[in-house]
Amino acid sequence: MTRPRDAGRNLVLVGFMGTGKSAVGRLLAERLGREFVDLDALIESSAGCPIPRIFAEEGEAGFRKREREAVRQVASRTGLVVATGGGVVLDPDNVRDLGTGGDVVCLTATPATILARVGSDRNRPLLQGGDPLVRIKELLAKRAPAYAAVAWQVATDGLDAGAVADRVMEQRGKVVDR
Ligand code: S3P
Repeated sequence: MTRPRDAGRNLVLVGFMGTGKSAVGRLLAERLGREFVDLDALIESSAGCPIPRIFAEEGEAGFRKREREAVRQVASRTGLVVATGGGVVLDPDNVRDLGTGGDVVCLTATPATILARVGSDRNRPLLQGGDPLVRIKELLAKRAPAYAAVAWQVATDGLDAGAVADRVMEQRGKVVDR
């Protein structure tokens, strides 16, 4: 797949919690001289409260509605690097919208890596309650087809954010003629 230089397309990172989307996205934005948008931060600022509170007060359904709205906002813009929340791929409309004006890259990691990175993080409501490794495996299994459907995949196990950013740039170099 090749296409002419298309610097305006958004670069969008998807992937499970703890795959490094936000840290890698920030680095990529710096390297590319682009604006960085973190979808979860956008949702928090428009809701005026943190994600755990949105889940507590509005449930996951309320959060997903807000996430859908945030996707529409970023998909209407160009030239961004976007880090999404891990569940954004659950809604096929999100996947379609992000891919229409953007190059979407899926960051992956094994359950053990994810556990080490975010297992004790209280800001991830979907990992609270019960054994976090079991929960990670359950959610990953449910979402596997949606993540696997993304054309570009970058494995992040054993890599720091800089090395992951290098790999994303390599992938991007294959489709963007610079
Ligand atoms: C979620 C992942 C979180 C956040 C919310 C739901 C998910 O983002 O959007 O807690 O469904 O996987 P991160 O992937 O940045 O942790």
